[in-house]
Amino acid sequence: MKSVALLATVAAVFSLVSASAFAAPDAEAAQKYAKDNGCTKCHAVDKTKKGPPYTKTAAKFKGKADAEAKLFDQLTKGPKVKFEDGTEEEHKALDTKESAQIKNLVQWILAQ
Ligand code: HEC
Repeated sequence: MKSVALLATVAAVFSLVSASAFAAPDAEAAQKYAKDNGCTKCHAVDKTKKGPPYTKTAAKFKGKADAEAKLFDQLTKGPKVKFEDGTEEEHKALDTKESAQIKNLVQWILAQ
């Protein structure tokens, strides 16, 4: 019994340590947030849908110091975007009140 309790303690301490060691981005939260906001209708990680795949976006912004700021604007200001068929539409704009979640999502996209 004693060793079981010890194991449980060790496991609990470990999960605390690893949770804080990997502060950002939280992939699960990012994907859930993207899904909840309908992003998955137009974007996938590595498949082109109506919008470009996140891997393409990550490659495009790789090494750019302002990547996070640019994508944050893209996701909050509702810029006009062009679809493959040439039609234009305002991009989905997220609420800046949720900036922590948006930043997490942006960092996750850039890590693809
Ligand atoms: C109706 C379809 C649609 C929805 C919904 C949508 N997007 Fe987009 N998204 C696009 C299109 C189209 C572009 C522009 C592609 C371009 O300009 O080459 C774009 C551009 C982007 C870009 C910039 C890509 C780049 O390489 O510059 C990001 C990041 C992005 N979207 C993320 C999201 C996120 C996150 C959501 C959910 C909040 C979302 N999109 C919702 C269609 C959509």
